[in-house]
Parts: sequence; C-alpha cells; structure tokens
Amino acid sequence: MNKALRKAVIAGNWKMNKTRPEAKELVEAIKPLVAGAGCEVVACVPFTNLETVLEAVKGSNVKVGAENCHFEKSGAFTGEISADMLAEMGVEYVIIGHSERRQYFGETDETVNKRTRAALAAGLKVILCVGEMLADRENGITDELVAMQTKIALKGVTAEELKNVIIAYEPVWAIGTGKTATAEQANEVCAVIRATLAKLYGKEAADATTIQYGGSMNAKNAAELVAQPDVDGGLIGGASLKAPDFAAIVEAATKG
Ligand code: 13P
Repeated sequence: MNKALRKAVIAGNWKMNKTRPEAKELVEAIKPLVAGAGCEVVACVPFTNLETVLEAVKGSNVKVGAENCHFEKSGAFTGEISADMLAEMGVEYVIIGHSERRQYFGETDETVNKRTRAALAAGLKVILCVGEMLADRENGITDELVAMQTKIALKGVTAEELKNVIIAYEPVWAIGTGKTATAEQANEVCAVIRATLAKLYGKEAADATTIQYGGSMNAKNAAELVAQPDVDGGLIGGASLKAPDFAAIVEAATKG
C-alpha cells in the first residue's frame, strides 16, 4: 500500500504560546513520552523558544521547527527572520502559509511560494499549509481552491526539493474550533492534494509525499484520522501544548 512509501509526521504548532521556561518544561515532558515513536515528531515553536528547545531536544528523537520565515536572505525587513538564520541555528523544519498568517498577516499564495522557495534553498524542510474557509466549502470550491493553493505554493519547486516538503491540509473552519473534519472529509482533500502533486511531479513523487491533516486533531480523534489512506500524520495546535495529549497523537500515528 502506498502509505508505506512515506513517513507519518506529527508536528506540534505551538503558535504564540510559551515563555522559555514554559517551553523547556513542555518539551522535557514530551521527550520521554514520544521516545519510542514510530513516526517523525516535530515541535514548531515561537522564534524566542528555538534555542531553548533545540538545546532541550539534543539526544532525543524530537525535531524542531519554526512557525514562519521571511523570503529574502537578509536586509531591511524589520522584525523578520530569514530561512538562513533558522538553518544556522540547527532548526530543521518551518511552517509556511499557515491560515492564521494568511488571515491576519497578509500572506498570499505568492508570498507562500516565495517563502517556500527560500526555506528550501536554505536547506529547511517545509510544512506547507493549505485549506479552505467555511464559505469555500459551502460554495463547493474546496477541491479547486486547495489544488490552486498547492500549485501556486510549489511554483518553481523542483522534484528534488519536493522531497523536503510536507503538505498540511488544514480546513480553516476546523482550526481551534473543536470542529474536526470527518476522517472521510480529511482523506478526500488530502487525496485531491496528492492528485495535484501527481499532475505536477508524477505519481511516484506524489505517493512519496507526506500529507498531514490539521484542525482540532486531538488524543481522541487522531487514530481515525491518521488511519485514512491519504492522511500521513497531523499538524497539531491546541493539543500539542499538553504533553500527554500530544504523546497520544504520536502513538496513534505510530499505530496508524
Ligand atoms: P488546533 O489543533 O488548535 O485546531 O490548530 C490546528 C492548527 O492550526 C495547527 O497548525
């Protein structure tokens, strides 16, 4: 089965939460609980926590990611952080195009594309977020919209670079709302994304790409979601801030 061709990844997106002492406490609690994980485990944390968390995960199987990066290499961009700055620290992953950045910080498909290319050029692995708003779903344009977001985000990304891209399908209406997409809905859109990748890069590359679901995934619903044939793990917000809940999701993906 194609699912065996790719790695399940469970990534926490801490969003704007945790001071440095709190971050250390959380990651120290997570480490022993996920030590036997059969999937990749990533903690994507605020910029201010990167150094603390990188130090804390040394010798463990937990990987570290940032939550955004700028697309220019350096320059007069007050308040921004470049992909090279992250890579130099030892950061491995970066989330790009999260819906909260699209909604609140003017992120567009074009800037998502620029950030994706910059991150890949710096040697980072990208967790690229796509997903529809509730109105899009109600208008019946989810598949087209998500395919379009995927296609624009990957413009100029080579097949070799695609190996460092994970796609996270996050329906905006399911984020932080407690309203999870059903396992069937999640699988259906992840399959649309995979079909889009197949058109762009061929079936083999599409089958090898990790596609996560995100949006109110928790310790209770994770098993059903990650068991879907096209869902290869999850991007976890709220539940990633509680070590036992995050560990339960990792365990579900290990079995998944
Ligand atoms: P919640 O898990 O809190 O719904 O957030 C999902 C998310 O946005 C992960 O990036």
